[in-house]
Amino acid sequence: MAQTTKPKTDLRDESRQFALLVNSVTDYALYMLDPTGLIQTWNPGGQRIKGYVAADVVGTSFSRFYLPEEAEAGMPERNLRTAATEGRYVAEGWRLRQDGTRFRASVVIDPIWEDGELVGFAKITRDITERFEAQEQLLQAQRDLLQAQKMEAIGKFTLGLAHDFNNLLTIVANCLDLISLKVKDGGVAKLIDTAQRAAERGALLTRQLLTFGKGQALVPEPVDLAAIMAECEALLRRSAGDAIALTVEVSRSLPTLSLDKAQLEAAVLNLVCNSRDAMPKGGTIFITASARRTKDPSVADAVEKPYVCLSVQDNGHGIEMEHQGRVFEPFFTTKPIGRGSGLGLSQVFGFTAQSGGFTELQSELGKGTRVNVCFPVPEY
Ligand SMILES: Nc1ncnc2c1ncn2[C@@H]1O[C@H](COP(=O)(O)OP(=O)(O)OP(=O)(O)O)[C@@H](O)[C@H]1O
Ligand SMILES: [Mg+2]
Repeated sequence: MAQTTKPKTDLRDESRQFALLVNSVTDYALYMLDPTGLIQTWNPGGQRIKGYVAADVVGTSFSRFYLPEEAEAGMPERNLRTAATEGRYVAEGWRLRQDGTRFRASVVIDPIWEDGELVGFAKITRDITERFEAQEQLLQAQRDLLQAQKMEAIGKFTLGLAHDFNNLLTIVANCLDLISLKVKDGGVAKLIDTAQRAAERGALLTRQLLTFGKGQALVPEPVDLAAIMAECEALLRRSAGDAIALTVEVSRSLPTLSLDKAQLEAAVLNLVCNSRDAMPKGGTIFITASARRTKDPSVADAVEKPYVCLSVQDNGHGIEMEHQGRVFEPFFTTKPIGRGSGLGLSQVFGFTAQSGGFTELQSELGKGTRVNVCFPVPEY
């Protein structure tokens, strides 16, 4: 008599098929919840993504995977309600692994109905951290590039304007000088003097605008950052005032840079003054420097090069998110009239860019601000 041997894996049994399918999936956490959110089943995908084995989680609430603040705010229950009332819950969010680390999750929750009664939920979670981070990096690179293009456009406009004004002001100043030689009358001489001072102020302003537009005549010389900082530390401390503790920690072993010393000192002073203004009740300013290999974020196809970055960090009021993209623009200021012209960071930006480097800004409201100015290490 012919004997039929039962295949080792009986794929005709539906529930067995289902169990095999779920247990073969390792890229997705596939599990079931009861109507209150208690975990009923677990699969290898769940273990791979979240780190737990079935014995750790079955019978416990799925809210353990949520960030504590979101779980406390009732998000897990809300999501189940959405799935039940709208037929499905689909979202992206941060979830926790067993070891406490976060991962970016793509989540789907489907309600399971039997004879019109809600008997539980099917939950599918995918770890999309890598894709999310790649997207974020791409977005950041696009934002950096857009910002760089905007600054380039404002820079060109400013440079053209500043050149024209500079030429006009030179003529005005020269004419006033000649007139002043001829006019000795007290009243008229006074008027000429006032006009001369206004022309000088105008010339200073156009010089600052030229710096922003990368049109300043720089005089680079070999610069030892530690030595320069030691030289101007006293001036910086005086500018910061008594209520602020200023620390300078710049290593003597950093590579020599090639920079315009006067502009560098002006840039550091501008940064320290900004930090001081952000801490009217006192605080700390920390000036450090470090060498690092990095790319210029404002250049689309930049290659990694050695840079030295000088960093001025404070614990002041910080900069609002919507202002962060604008603070380097000329005339952007949040200070009252007469307190700030909005040209400090423009000088920092223009000088750094014209020296072949770039600036970085990190700021958080209520916590403080850090500005890095990064200069390329010259290749000899
Ligand atoms: N360290 C900082 N903390 C908080 N806000 C800052 C800081 N640095 C700059 N800002 C913000 O950026 C704006 C622009 O700074 P910037 O130095 O260009 O101009 P300003 O300080 O307003 O005027 P100026 O430097 O010409 O006297 C400031 O008005 C301020 O709102
Ligand atoms: Mg300033």
